[in-house]
Amino acid sequence: MTKPQTFLALNWKMNKTPSESVQWAEDLLGQLGDLNIKLAIMAPSVSLAGLSGVLGDSQVGLGAQDISQHDSGAYTGEVSAAMLKDLGVKYAVIGHSERREYHFESDAVVAAKAAQAIKNGIVPIVCVGEKLSEREAGEQVSYTLNQLRGSLAGVSIQSADDLVIAYEPVWAIGTGKTATAQDAEDMCAEIRGVLKELYPAFAKQIVVQYGGSVKPDNIQEICGKPNVNGALVGGASLQVAGVTGMVDALK
Ligand code: 13P
Repeated sequence: MTKPQTFLALNWKMNKTPSESVQWAEDLLGQLGDLNIKLAIMAPSVSLAGLSGVLGDSQVGLGAQDISQHDSGAYTGEVSAAMLKDLGVKYAVIGHSERREYHFESDAVVAAKAAQAIKNGIVPIVCVGEKLSEREAGEQVSYTLNQLRGSLAGVSIQSADDLVIAYEPVWAIGTGKTATAQDAEDMCAEIRGVLKELYPAFAKQIVVQYGGSVKPDNIQEICGKPNVNGALVGGASLQVAGVTGMVDALK
């Protein structure tokens, strides 16, 4: 089985102003050589238009951090998939644990958003992962797979490229505690097992990322595992040097 191409997605979260984003992207493009991986920036909505102008058709893709599950209309503050598509957005992080926790997004909402993204030609990066309490109780696999099934309920795809899954154990996000590469592999293999049930024709080629305190010195070991096809990176994605360090580590 050939692995899908490694996909490194940079989740800036709520960081950088629009003008800082543009400057940062220009710096990154100036320092990147030819890439052997897929790379994309997941930026705050207000920065997407500026970034779209800088990134254009470069080898760095553009992504959002959320989308509305609705097409259009009276949803104050929301941003639709069609609006994002119009800006050249290719990806959207969906169901990040911070949105699940602080914005009370249920699995059903996550699934509706993922379907909405796919309907509009945007690839959802659907996030799942257990909290520390589930891991300490030894329930991380059942919890995460249950969340995965709920977050993909009614979501259909036409090719392996239509969907990305990110396994992000909540206890490893922003804490400096990384799951071991073997922990990441074990859960990503479980996730792929569910994908085989849901999407038998495509499961082997669907990108499954790991996220949680990934940085230049651990990315290679994690992404070297058979069922881990890339990373969703927060903190280490904020500095250009962090990104070039990770890109180099994957060469
Ligand atoms: P950190 O890389 O800062 O741990 O964040 C991970 C994350 O939440 C990416 O979506």
